[in-house]
Amino acid sequence: MKILKDAAGIILFIVLSILFFLYIMPFIGETIMIVINIINAGFNKLSEHPILVIGIIIIAASVYIAVFIESKAVMETSAGSVVSKTEPIQIKDQKAFERLIGLKKAKEEVRNFFEIINTYMAEPEVAKQYELKPPKGLLLYGPPGNGKTSFARACASYYGFAFISIKGSELIAGDGAVGIPQQRIKDLFAAARTRKPCIIFFDEIDSIAQVRSGRSINSPSDILLDALLNEIDGFDPLRGVFIIAATNRMDILDPALIRPGRLEKHIEIGNPNFGERIAIIKAHIGQKPVKDDIDYHLLSELTKGKSGAFLEACVNQANISAFKERRKINQADLSKSIEDFA
Ligand SMILES: Nc1ncnc2c1ncn2[C@@H]1O[C@H](COP(=O)(O)OP(=O)(O)OP(=O)(O)O)[C@@H](O)[C@H]1O
Ligand SMILES: [Mg+2]
Repeated sequence: MKILKDAAGIILFIVLSILFFLYIMPFIGETIMIVINIINAGFNKLSEHPILVIGIIIIAASVYIAVFIESKAVMETSAGSVVSKTEPIQIKDQKAFERLIGLKKAKEEVRNFFEIINTYMAEPEVAKQYELKPPKGLLLYGPPGNGKTSFARACASYYGFAFISIKGSELIAGDGAVGIPQQRIKDLFAAARTRKPCIIFFDEIDSIAQVRSGRSINSPSDILLDALLNEIDGFDPLRGVFIIAATNRMDILDPALIRPGRLEKHIEIGNPNFGERIAIIKAHIGQKPVKDDIDYHLLSELTKGKSGAFLEACVNQANISAFKERRKINQADLSKSIEDFA
């Protein structure tokens, strides 16, 4: 009855119950007789004892508030973040990866996974013969702004999967009442199972999957990680649920999470190289009006060591400058925005 631990519910329940029993105590014997009479004579006699009726209503209402309303609140906190962030099965979008340059290894791993799943669905006997076991998930790690989140989203669009995205910090957010984070993890996987094929994307997984302290069995993040490991162990990837996790801090993750058999594929998503920077700038320019004076090689030189997000922001700012004067984006716009952001 963990729900009854909720302070407001318990206090209300106890106060109302005490008040009622204080009221009936002096004539408890008489009350019992009245109840027996009512039962014997039928419930139409209830109207002759309004105080008793009011007492019963008060107790029923306080039990309702304590148990049902509070339990509903708990359910909503635990499941709300999961369900509200679920995107329905997507219509396959062949262009989903078009603007996402590089990430070759990650794209290849996901393709392998989907090939196995497709084989399992179309030719289960072949899948059985080879005892195919796709990896359960993929861990993307690397500096911020290089497409980890965009990649996870693009996978769902490209392969037409449902997408559940959750940040580690959202799983531990809120009142931290006992059992809620574990319930959120359970809800998350339950939601994925009902929406399969589905990708569960754990963004910023480091906030819930740091090396376990081992100091206290009650540490909320340790308990949460245990629940996550349990769920990962308990699901069969052949059923069409795939996990993608992202972090900027691979170094602090608990080895249990990233060992073979769990999130066993680790792919570094670093800052783009020379050629990739050119391709990212071009991808974000897309079909925007652009002058032919642009020196992509120079822009790539100027942005060495910068992230994809940086390049996108530069193109965006140059585009706004050009738009304000209703002209094409030119080299000066781009050089200036690189200077401004650097
Ligand atoms: N390789 C890339 N190709 C095209 N665009 C990119 C690339 N990398 C990043 N971007 C752009 O940068 C923006 C930020 O990317 P995203 O949020 O996916 O990065 P991230 O790796 O998840 O960052 P963080 O670690 O901070 O969460 C996106 O809008 C995306 O379009
Ligand atoms: Mg991200």
